[in-house]
Amino acid sequence: MATAQRRAGSGTAIDDRFGQKIPERDVLAVGNRTTLVMPMTIRPARQDDLPTLEWYGLHTPHREIIAGAFRLQECGDGAMLLADVNGFPAGQICIDFLRKRPSGRATLWALRVFQPFRGLGIGTRLLCAAERAVLQRGVPFAELGVDRDNAGVLPFYERLGYDHCGRERGQFLYHTPEGRLVRVAIDQWLLNKRLTEGTQPTDTVPNTGKGLALTDD
Ligand SMILES: CC(C)(COP(=O)(O)OP(=O)(O)OC[C@H]1O[C@@H](n2cnc3c(N)ncnc32)[C@H](O)[C@@H]1OP(=O)(O)O)[C@@H](O)C(=O)NCCC(=O)NCCS
Repeated sequence: MATAQRRAGSGTAIDDRFGQKIPERDVLAVGNRTTLVMPMTIRPARQDDLPTLEWYGLHTPHREIIAGAFRLQECGDGAMLLADVNGFPAGQICIDFLRKRPSGRATLWALRVFQPFRGLGIGTRLLCAAERAVLQRGVPFAELGVDRDNAGVLPFYERLGYDHCGRERGQFLYHTPEGRLVRVAIDQWLLNKRLTEGTQPTDTVPNTGKGLALTDD
């Protein structure tokens, strides 16, 4: 820190890493709590987001799955929505319009928020944005699966209006970037929600006030 900050006259210091002027009271207030305000935009993924969506290696083994979700969006049979926080894809949700089309359902999958950004309302906003995309397609039901070893997340969906509608078992296969075939057993609760025009819009989701205030663009 000593090398990163230098004084710039009375009352201010310059942070050498960013060249930004910050009030001296904040430089001195080590350990004091502050609130960061960051812009957040929910938008479709672009090709150049794909490497960043691996989240510094966490999802590198899933590169093939990420690319597949993006292809589905490109051909119009899916969507891949990102929560872009200050230029970083802090969360994502995918939609598959194809798989259950005959029964009037769109499948929501791969909802996840990068750990440090959890509990701030991003997951709720992503889910609401996905529901809107489903509604815009004229599909009456959103459906999703929750792994039976992830029961902790059930209240999150129930609070947002999802009902239990069955169970699904099976498997899916993918290749890691090294070419290893991975077989994943699926054992999930199925939840669904009938969507109507009154489906909770993202702009009624309250900011949680837990330290990072997100401003929807
Ligand atoms: C589930 C997830 C997407 C929620 O994203 P988020 O941005 O944290 O969601 P929000 O801030 O809108 O809502 C968070 C609320 O859901 C609850 N919640 C979400 N997942 C939970 C879990 N596994 N266990 C307990 N509570 C959970 C939080 O406690 C919080 O409740 P609170 O507001 O009463 O404190 C995120 O926790 C995540 O990425 N989890 C890992 C991946 C995952 O399990 N995805 C779901 C697959 S079905």
